[in-house]
Amino acid sequence: MVGKIIGTGSYIPEKYLDNNDLAQIIETSDKWIRERTGIIRRHVVETETTVSMAAAAADNALQNSGIHADEVELILLCTVSSDVILPSAACEVQQRIGAVNATAFDLNAACAGFVFAYVMAQGYIAAKIYRTILIIGSESLSKLVDWKDRGTCILFGDGAGAAVIRAAAGQRYLPVTGSDGESGLSLTLKSRFWQEDAAARSYIGMDGQAIFKFAVKKVPQAIRGVLKKNRINPRTIDWFILHQANQRIIDAVIKRLGISEDKFPSNVAEYGNTSSASIPILLDEMVQKGLLEKGQKIVLAGFGAGLSWGAVVLKW
Ligand code: UT7
Repeated sequence: MVGKIIGTGSYIPEKYLDNNDLAQIIETSDKWIRERTGIIRRHVVETETTVSMAAAAADNALQNSGIHADEVELILLCTVSSDVILPSAACEVQQRIGAVNATAFDLNAACAGFVFAYVMAQGYIAAKIYRTILIIGSESLSKLVDWKDRGTCILFGDGAGAAVIRAAAGQRYLPVTGSDGESGLSLTLKSRFWQEDAAARSYIGMDGQAIFKFAVKKVPQAIRGVLKKNRINPRTIDWFILHQANQRIIDAVIKRLGISEDKFPSNVAEYGNTSSASIPILLDEMVQKGLLEKGQKIVLAGFGAGLSWGAVVLKW
């Protein structure tokens, strides 16, 4: 028994800020941002919230999978930027979409979140605990960045993506996942409830070069590791869907793996880094474009704060 993705969905806020818009508020340029990151614009919430985007992406995924909300048994919502803590964002989504039979909870694994949720979903399905699981990544990172910090605010964007996973006959693949709490201080966000000054806001803090080095080393290792573990020849993989952090990271991973760049789709230019939402948004975009064919083998790889990383193989 394996969990198969039977439908995907996404939600992107209409409003966006392009690099020239940012150059109006911080000392930067379109050229600098494009060269260092590949990002051209990022979409940002207006009236939307992390919960509302998650619910919209979930509705969309349910519609595309052809199942009714009451068939969902578990909702795993990955986010680091929820507008609510109690109740969980997942419970709010459950209520909004009418998934009355689902258990629901949130998962924080930052940019590795969607891959970790996918691994959890496979575990629940293998253990026959749940058969139909909705996994969602939703982020409003524009609310967490310091718009005066040019080193971080240029990178992040908002949006949500979702996938419905259902038990089916088929081969199970083992994942590769890991965390390194020792290096955790290179990407941080303090809870504002614990600030000494109650009025002080906290923002995403990042050692960009440390994250860059971590990603270009760990991601190829995780991908090679997951292929070796499952005895799969890298050449037989049709798509490598990476967390969309930065085009330079994706390019460095392609170079290290020595695999054709055509197999590494990217939409970071349009959305920036949407953390846990980036993989399901890209997956849904590929489905909408008709790029995914039955039987194709796909690698998903996520990485980020924690530091945490993970790679999985799946058959479409
Ligand atoms: O999900 C994981 C999330 N994180 C990431 O993916 C981040 C990974 N890291 C990176 O992508 C890169 O480290 C950055 C794009 C964030 C920065 O690029 P960098 O080549 O590592 O630049 P840097 O931090 O070494 O800064 C070089 C210079 C500095 O100026 P000085 O000290 O040389 O005068 C910065 O102040 O670039 C300056 N700088 C900027 N200039 C124009 C930093 N941000 C900007 C900016 N526009 N937005």
